[in-house]
Amino acid sequence: MDTARRTARGAPALLLLLLLLGTGRTDGYRPVVIVHGIFDGPRQFQTLSHFITEVGHVSRDNVHMHRQAIPFGETSGMHPGTEVTVIDLYSDLGSLSSLWTQVQDFRKAFDAIALRAPDGVHLLCFSQGGLICRALLSLAPRHNVHTFVSLSSPLSGQYGDTDYLRWLFPSFMKSKVFRLCYSIGGQKVSVCDYWNDPHQRHRYLQSNTFLPMLNGERPHLHQKEWRENFLLIKKLVLIGGPDDGVITPWQSSHFGFYNIDENIVEMRNQETLAARGAVSVCVRSGVKHVEWHSNRTVFTGCIERWLT
Ligand SMILES: *[C@@H]1O[C@H](CO)[C@@H](O)[C@H](O)[C@H]1NC(C)=O
Repeated sequence: MDTARRTARGAPALLLLLLLLGTGRTDGYRPVVIVHGIFDGPRQFQTLSHFITEVGHVSRDNVHMHRQAIPFGETSGMHPGTEVTVIDLYSDLGSLSSLWTQVQDFRKAFDAIALRAPDGVHLLCFSQGGLICRALLSLAPRHNVHTFVSLSSPLSGQYGDTDYLRWLFPSFMKSKVFRLCYSIGGQKVSVCDYWNDPHQRHRYLQSNTFLPMLNGERPHLHQKEWRENFLLIKKLVLIGGPDDGVITPWQSSHFGFYNIDENIVEMRNQETLAARGAVSVCVRSGVKHVEWHSNRTVFTGCIERWLT
């Protein structure tokens, strides 16, 4: 890449040729793949896509100034902007489909993009999408995801009455939801796949067919392989905050969760990445759940520097 970039600086015509040939990362930016959350879809990610691509669309002088402001950025010259894809699957009500079903299809779409990216891609996943991405990363051998950004995702599960939940289960209290969720029918609804009732641990482990497997809380044949696949990422960025209002407890966005007394305990399953210095945690207050992806200070403070 360095050679390509140096050559390109001296010979704009060659750069143009390289771009036309579509050689991939001639500008130093890896493609970004976005996976949306529950009840949303590509439409909700237009602002975020714009935040990402506009970096590549300003004039050469601005690029230079801009790049200097980013501590981890590269100092490349002219570049054509970043390829951003918001996977257009299971939008809106479709997002309630079982997560294993969604993961299969998201994976196909993801593979098609990743195959065209010789230097790898970044995966940026919002809310429920963060769980889809974790599963996708666990299932994909030799994947080329460089950075996985998890934007307010219920990574350790969800246990709370939120507006979403009241809409889905109007007559249920959170303490009763397990009856519905931890059943064969319930597991066909995405929310139930990460419903984690700390007072029903046994039922969770036995009847939740998604999260306990992903978390390695329930032993299974592919546990080691899934873990190794996931650990191929170079960087894990965890973003969330106390005013989220939907993810409950909000610390689930950083792998924290309730114990049986509903006190928060930090989960310790990302130690390997943490030991490598590969985990970045970004806590921001004053951000409601549906605002995370459209908030510019969140983008500049927590996301931008990793999308190189
Ligand atoms: C944007 O994020 C900042 C924290 O980075 C927060 O203080 C602010 O309230 C947010 N704005 C909106 C509209 O969510």
